[in-house]
Amino acid sequence: MKKVMLVFGTRPEAIKMCPLVKELKSRQNVQTLVCVTGQHREMLRQVLEAFSVKPDRNLDIMRQGQTLFDVTERVMEGVKKVLAEERPDVMLVHGDTTTTFAAALAAYYMNVPIGHVEAGLRTYDIRAPYPEEFNRQAVGILADYNFAPTPTARDNLIREGKRPQTVFVTGNTAIDALGTTVRSDFSHPELEWAKGYRLVILTAHRRENWGEPLRHIFRGIRRVVEELPDVKVLYPIHLNPLVRQAAEETLRGCDRIRLVEPIEVVTFHNFLARSYMILTDSGGIQEEAPSLGKPVLVLRDVTERPEGVAAGTLKVIGTREEDVYREFRTLMTDEAAYDAMSRAENPYGDGLASRRIADILIYGKAKV
Ligand code: UD1
Ligand code: UDP
Repeated sequence: MKKVMLVFGTRPEAIKMCPLVKELKSRQNVQTLVCVTGQHREMLRQVLEAFSVKPDRNLDIMRQGQTLFDVTERVMEGVKKVLAEERPDVMLVHGDTTTTFAAALAAYYMNVPIGHVEAGLRTYDIRAPYPEEFNRQAVGILADYNFAPTPTARDNLIREGKRPQTVFVTGNTAIDALGTTVRSDFSHPELEWAKGYRLVILTAHRRENWGEPLRHIFRGIRRVVEELPDVKVLYPIHLNPLVRQAAEETLRGCDRIRLVEPIEVVTFHNFLARSYMILTDSGGIQEEAPSLGKPVLVLRDVTERPEGVAAGTLKVIGTREEDVYREFRTLMTDEAAYDAMSRAENPYGDGLASRRIADILIYGKAKV
């Protein structure tokens, strides 16, 4: 029987790995182990509870205001010990966080084969997003199985010299998760607050946006909200103190902008589904929005998700106040521009990515 160990530690990794945990646990011929690094604490717990996944190991590494060094060192040390005790046949990591990179490096040092879920996303700018572009490229060098969500991601890997027989197009497990969370009969007090208004969801947390870019973003958004009386913005703020400080300073005092704690994932997906549009620098939300038909203005200079841009749902607008103001205002006032972006097209898979990944690990190829 094959022993598969999944390692993840932040909110987005958990959202996209939980469907795979469930799929692997449903298979007879696999022993599945879940090791969380705890790079996130509360935000990770929210997801594990929502998907009823109980980790076998928790390295519990999070510290307030942790640095990249803290996370890298603590994940490597912790994963090394777990790998020495468990000796899995394959270790799966997801995407591009420092948990992903450090766990993969530990597995490589321990000669444990690595499977990379959500492989092949690229901007080819090592500083954007920072340090995620480095993390995913580095894991790309180490991985024995590359589960690419889209043909574009596969092509990136092949162009970089990965052996074709190690690269599989599976779809993104984000779509598997979304299929289990969005409901037609959903209600919530925040939705009552937004009743009669156009609800805009905002999230922003990226490292390269810390400091001035975040303040620019928030000022541009606030100006539009103050000019358009039928708009309300809901912003669940990431728990990072630097992000919270910038948000509090720039957005407080505007009664149509509501700052709230991170929202549990089922609720959050239902908010997205009922929103008018989305402003975000998040990676995962760029994958979810196209299948919900919600326009997204991407608060970054580049994206590794060109499929959503090609589908017409995403527009990359950068972080300068004037650009954010202009693009946000246009989308809220120009109906034709809005309609052109609000088509529901989903380039990220059919919700069966986890099944394919499990098949490939067990049988060597996907059966769906
Ligand atoms: C991390 C990932 C990023 C991913 C993001 C998703 C790295 C380098 N960054 O960034 O790729 O997009 O997660 O959200 O891997 N905190 C809490 N409780 C929590 C979570 C965070 O208090 O549950 C606070 C802590 O003070 C922590 C800080 O946020 O030190 C930063 O967390 P960290 O994981 O280092 O960076 P993120 O910005 O969350
Ligand atoms: N999300 C959530 N609650 C929130 C904000 C985001 O559940 O309050 C979900 C969102 O739907 C997506 C994921 O978290 O699936 C994105 O995580 P984040 O933006 O932290 O990280 P990124 O995707 O940028 O790495």
